[in-house]
Amino acid sequence: MENSVIQRINEETDIVALASEFMSLTKRGKNYMGLCPFHDEKTPSFSVSPEKHLAKCMGCGKGGNPITFYQQIKNISFKEAATDLAKRLGIEVKEEKKQVDPNERLYALMKDTNEFYQFALMNSEAGNEAYKYLLNRGLTDEDIKHFEIGFSPSKPDGLYQLLKSKKHSVTDMMALGLVKQNEEGIYYDVFRSRIMFPIKDEHDRVVGFSGRTTQKDEVAKYVNSTETVLFKKGEIVYHYLESKRAAVKQKHVILAEGFFDVIASYKSGLEAVVATMGTALTTHQAELIKRLTDHVVIAYDGDKAGQNATLKAIPVLRKAGLKISILSLPEKLDPDEYTKKYGYEKYKALYDTNLTDPYLFGYNMFIKNKDFQRADDILEFKKQMTALLRGADNTVLEYYQRKIFNELKIKVYLTDTITELPPKKKEELKVIRSKGYFAFEHLLINLLIEDKYLDKIRYYISLVEIHDKDQKELFKDIVNYYEITNESMMDIENFLAHYAKNKVYVQKFMDRIEFQRKMTIRSDKEFMKFVDAVKEYENFLLLETYKKKLVETQLDNEKNSYLEKIHELSKRGKVAWVWK
Ligand code: UTP
Ligand code: MN
Repeated sequence: MENSVIQRINEETDIVALASEFMSLTKRGKNYMGLCPFHDEKTPSFSVSPEKHLAKCMGCGKGGNPITFYQQIKNISFKEAATDLAKRLGIEVKEEKKQVDPNERLYALMKDTNEFYQFALMNSEAGNEAYKYLLNRGLTDEDIKHFEIGFSPSKPDGLYQLLKSKKHSVTDMMALGLVKQNEEGIYYDVFRSRIMFPIKDEHDRVVGFSGRTTQKDEVAKYVNSTETVLFKKGEIVYHYLESKRAAVKQKHVILAEGFFDVIASYKSGLEAVVATMGTALTTHQAELIKRLTDHVVIAYDGDKAGQNATLKAIPVLRKAGLKISILSLPEKLDPDEYTKKYGYEKYKALYDTNLTDPYLFGYNMFIKNKDFQRADDILEFKKQMTALLRGADNTVLEYYQRKIFNELKIKVYLTDTITELPPKKKEELKVIRSKGYFAFEHLLINLLIEDKYLDKIRYYISLVEIHDKDQKELFKDIVNYYEITNESMMDIENFLAHYAKNKVYVQKFMDRIEFQRKMTIRSDKEFMKFVDAVKEYENFLLLETYKKKLVETQLDNEKNSYLEKIHELSKRGKVAWVWK
């Protein structure tokens, strides 16, 4: 159904009449209220706004625009609800044509190509050589089928001819990086005489290829599809969808470097295994992995390059919220080489015995080739550890401080990484109260009642940054109110009817509104200053804590670090913004 039709239905349906069919409503100001038909209640929370075309419960959040409301109350599909309501209004609904994915044609072309390569592996002489190569590397027919491995024939235009016979356009072939045109205008295949790995997206569609040579003297070991409309290397992980089901049972997913490492893990029974294709891991890829499971095991090559790539991947994976383990492989082997040398069983067992956490992995890397009697090396080490431990729990930090002291005989203070706020004390609060910091929090609530700043405030300020108990409660309720009602402006009567707990609450709220009349914010710049002022209290608390610690500590090193922080915070200063 077209959006414009849906919009008409929602706008033209008499929402009060519609809701009245299912419940009884009482007029309250501009709106109507009633007992929510979606949940049990004694006082009415269900609000119907003819102005906004909304029928929604402030308690349970059910309902919404006319179609949504009707859909939910009748327990029917969106389409049925929309069609029904359209009929009532006499709006004609045309049967929609099936939406065609504009890339459908391209996916079909990739699919035909994939089938062609697979056919060529089994049905040509050169393909047979490649097939033997794969068997030699330990692959079975089943493995070849699972990974849909194929072969691109040596004939210059084998694929081009096949695709032409299937009526694909040469423009599409070229756009997908499969065919090129030479100076004489002759079309030729990009992939020739290579073992072909299809690369699929998360919907199981082939989006690209990677072709491996079987010749030792060939310059490029792998040739990959260029970036195309379908193929964005940084947004794809190899063997993604195939890992999805396996990840549930395996409880982690393995991240490897190469195709043959994926195959090695897969053959060991560790079927949840993905790879990036020769490029550094991207945030996008880390997020894809996070969708498979919460725990990733990095199984990059055991050589120097692999270890460096591991170090680079750690923060990217951590940012995606993944728990990270690292598989250490002996003798600089990669997973594929390890299985060849020691067998699949032994490889699988490594996942029980040879996993380290990223901190220990980093530590072991960073202490290598360093002389801890040299200042440069110490500082370098400190920098590396600080970066690695950023955001780590205090207990972990302390553990590493101790470990470093015991093993390296140096003291490294890792306090830089502490991000949590120190707990607030009662006496501090008293000081603050008298300093009038909270005035800004009061003003904040005023602004929140106005719709103009709603989104901005919600974006810039979070609940934890409000410190006055009363303001915190109001802030929470107002944000909640807006979220549930979806209104852009507050219906005060309505709000109080649902959130007021007692007379004091109402009084406080009314005080704020009274105050509101006296305030205006004239520009975005002024607004940002205001945000700073609200946040100033956090700064103040930190500053006081550091001052206290500075007095308490006996260690020069810590003293310096606190002084630095105090200096930094004082620089921000008081926000020089006076309410006029
Ligand atoms: P590897 O050289 O480790 O490849 O590169 P591999 O898959 O283990 O292959 P074998 O065992 O030597 O046969 C890791 C990945 O980097 C990409 C490929 O995706 C490869 O799987 N790569 C490598 C390229 O894109 N181009 C290259 O020339 C080499
Ligand atoms: Mn390899």
